[in-house]
Amino acid sequence: MCGIVGYVGDKTAVDILLEGLTSLEYRGYDSSGVALNIDGKVELFKAQGKLQNLRNIVQNNYTQISKSTIGIGHIRWATHGVPSIANAHPHTCNCGKVAIVHNGIIENFKELKVKLEAQGCTFRSQTDTETVAHLVASKFAQTHDLTEAVRLATLEIEGAYALAVIHQDVKNTIVATRRNAPLVIGFGEGENFVASDIPALIQYTKKAMYLDDNQIVTLTPNSAKVIDIEKNEIPLKVETLPWEPVALSKMGYKHFMLKEIHEQPDIVRNVLSGKLRTMDEPISLDEVTLDKAKLKDLNRIQIVACGTSLHAAMVGKYIIEDFCGIPVEVEASSEYIYRKTITDENTLVIGVSQSGETADTITAIRLAKKKGSHILIVTNRPDSTMAREADSLVPVNAGIEVSVAATKSYMAQLISFYLLAIYMAEVKGSISKEELMDLKHELIVLPQKIDKILTHKEDIQKIARKFSSFKDFIFVARGINFPTALEGALKLKEISYINATGYSAGELKHGPIAMLDDSMPVLAILMKGKVYEKILSNAEEAKARNARMIALTDSDDQKLDELFENIIRIPEISEILSPALAIVPLQLLAYYIAEFLGKDVDQPRNLAKSVTVE
Ligand code: AGP
Repeated sequence: MCGIVGYVGDKTAVDILLEGLTSLEYRGYDSSGVALNIDGKVELFKAQGKLQNLRNIVQNNYTQISKSTIGIGHIRWATHGVPSIANAHPHTCNCGKVAIVHNGIIENFKELKVKLEAQGCTFRSQTDTETVAHLVASKFAQTHDLTEAVRLATLEIEGAYALAVIHQDVKNTIVATRRNAPLVIGFGEGENFVASDIPALIQYTKKAMYLDDNQIVTLTPNSAKVIDIEKNEIPLKVETLPWEPVALSKMGYKHFMLKEIHEQPDIVRNVLSGKLRTMDEPISLDEVTLDKAKLKDLNRIQIVACGTSLHAAMVGKYIIEDFCGIPVEVEASSEYIYRKTITDENTLVIGVSQSGETADTITAIRLAKKKGSHILIVTNRPDSTMAREADSLVPVNAGIEVSVAATKSYMAQLISFYLLAIYMAEVKGSISKEELMDLKHELIVLPQKIDKILTHKEDIQKIARKFSSFKDFIFVARGINFPTALEGALKLKEISYINATGYSAGELKHGPIAMLDDSMPVLAILMKGKVYEKILSNAEEAKARNARMIALTDSDDQKLDELFENIIRIPEISEILSPALAIVPLQLLAYYIAEFLGKDVDQPRNLAKSVTVE
């Protein structure tokens, strides 16, 4: 969580830092700050709350602040200490000459703090980060070399960090380093950048290098030198980034979330492109390196993920088992890592993550890798830590997702799972030619069906308005759409703060039915197929308890008109592919309810897009 950015060059640093922080806001937004060297002195500017508060402070002092051409900035998602000005980064040492920004958690900060206090350091915040500022200052006092001071400090700190440091006495220099937290360097002409993520640099340069764990970079306007923790110089590996700055614009939509929902037909086409070539050709997944003979013999798959990615994984389980007959276990990464996990070299372990930086999932795949499992990563960020540690990769090609609530990346993950399951089924020969043809055809026409739902979004907007004052919401489904119910509920709770829960419809009568009365909307996902009639009966039971009934269906069954107060009708689709269509109205429903309630749709309270702490 948290985003860091640094600039050294000949332009007004604060403008570049604020722009960078704006594009990193998805990583956190409870406080922010910058440290600048103004007329030879390190000065801090910090604000609690949204980034706009920092912008206002900067604006009020702009004449003085704009002189600086070097600085570091931070946007925070609180872990240690409440969101406040004292806890906002940058943090400094006693004399205020060192300024530091940090993303991650310093696990041994308490021990370090005791030692540093004994040496006379005075702590002004409740953060773990402040220890690093004091530690670097004490190492600098011994070495008078900022790079060496940072290197020596990192030898003593445990945990995860991306750090950027400036020192008043070391002109025009930023030192940055990382361990288990992302950090990228951007190279310009007479200027250099460092940031937690590419969006902070992309409008200034496309030349970048991802720093590896324990590497330290020293940046000046005209130089960049990277060393490892043993002081060996590392040659610069400059890449040209494939990103376009336009990806970060709302393109006329009120919120990124609405724009990203609307991008989904194109995302499906993107994901299919180059992988599903013709109906007769097998699916091609170039970055899946698992030996075909080994794939045929696989007797178990485990999938680990968090949040929305976990829901995509649950759909993945259903389709891999259906197409390939291989048993699949799905588990939240945070649970997988703290039990006696049984994994071995005969198990394929799939990690699913939009960001590729979720700490729990990284730990889970590392654990499985140690036990010899082949690691396959399904991610939207082929440049991420997970992708770099993977044996096989399925890049999901959803483009950058800005809204904290995942929508288009979920769609891309689902389509990737269909492709992966078909790919495996083709290798195993576990699915008939006719079935394969039907599936591929349905995937190709899916974007048109999503478009149809988006064209009629006003119908969903009306239902959203009608139900926006309810305090609770239940989503029910069965089979392959049970994860759709969970994802629909997650979308609603994360952006509207309504207490929404997804249940397997068959479980209603085992407890949750006790909550039903006329103050409880129940949205039933009724896609035609094996469980349609069963869900209908479960919906009857809910209606008999006076629940306010809403249907989401691809059926034109007249019976539904009596049972449901509102019906969201979507185009017909095979049951196995229905999660990719049924989720779209639920994303819109959540969006319109939150928008009607005036919530901060793209940046819901207490959340961050990239959860890089366990
Ligand atoms: C989704 O709307 C959430 N913001 C969240 O649940 C997210 O899916 C989760 O944190 C996992 O992130 P990842 O896909 O980047 O690993």
